[in-house]
Amino acid sequence: MFPKEVSIVEVGPRDGLQNEKQALSAEQKIELIQLLSKTGLNRIEAGSFVSPKWVPQMANSDAVFKALSPEDKIHYSALTPNLKGLEAAIEAGAKEVAVFGAASESFSLKNINCSISESLKRFEAVFDLASENKIKVRGYVSCVMGCPYEGKISPSAVTQVSKELIDMGCYEVSLGDTIGVGTPMSTKLLLDDVLNEVDVSKVAAHFHDTYGQALVNLYTALGYGISSIDSAVAGLGGCPYAKGASGNVATEDVLYMLNGMGISTGIDMAKLLKASSYISELLGRSPVSKAANALLAK
Ligand code: HMG
Ligand code: MG
Repeated sequence: MFPKEVSIVEVGPRDGLQNEKQALSAEQKIELIQLLSKTGLNRIEAGSFVSPKWVPQMANSDAVFKALSPEDKIHYSALTPNLKGLEAAIEAGAKEVAVFGAASESFSLKNINCSISESLKRFEAVFDLASENKIKVRGYVSCVMGCPYEGKISPSAVTQVSKELIDMGCYEVSLGDTIGVGTPMSTKLLLDDVLNEVDVSKVAAHFHDTYGQALVNLYTALGYGISSIDSAVAGLGGCPYAKGASGNVATEDVLYMLNGMGISTGIDMAKLLKASSYISELLGRSPVSKAANALLAK
């Protein structure tokens, strides 16, 4: 059964921009986030507090968070892989963070330099400090439908990490098809397994569009009742540790599909297109979104 409403988590300023060769200034990111904040989106992933040696594009996240008004009804979140990241996020005024693990051992090592079980151990300290500071924690599981190093990943491996993240205190777990290899059938096999253990209200879909399957996979996930979807304006994104992975599914494309299905999101397409044009012009290319290109050509 399809949900009546969907909450979109805009991940472009983080997942998108972390993978752009051209590093943006804090001012440019803030302008993008302000344009996104006017669209009706109320969950925006605005940056990450990770090692600048690993992801230099996110090095100015503290300046970005310091400029965002805490009174806004918008939840701005940040990725925090460890205690150091959370401390920096708190210092910059973040009220919501996300930890990120993986269903693949090899990806975990390449991405955060530790095994899956070590990562969960590191997250314990993050949960403790977050709870002391009343900070909400979201969780990501990467490689849910395939890994660039290990190939196939079993749904049960995803279920196990997802369940652990929820048990540790994540309010929601976002299932990342990091390299965009999933199909409707693998989405179905994944959700048949995960939703046995984790309530559908706590599961989000985070699909990349490498093979052009993200929308149809989202349609499959919506059929299971999933009502939280991650996407990136203009289809920005990729993953620095997953060569060849293209961006997140474009927010404009997701919105076009949801509007057509009569599923409400509270997001205004015309305002979203302004944010899409702004970032695309800055990066010197057209949006990676069929809906945006069609609508902007009108
Ligand atoms: P490490 O080298 O194992 O960490 O990295 P360490 O504790 O040994 O510290 C090494 C150095 O990093 C030290 O500095 C620390 O101070 C510093 P040095 O003494 O060498 O100058 N450091 C930090 N600096 C800033 N912020 C921090 C931090 N922690 C340590 N939080 C670490 C471990 C996790 C830090 C590193 O591997 C890292 O930063 N990785 C970045 C991973 C990343 O951001 N990946 C992309 C996001 S995940 C993603 O895109 C997938 C997702 O979209 C879902 C999907 O699509 O599947 C979420
Ligand atoms: Mg991602």
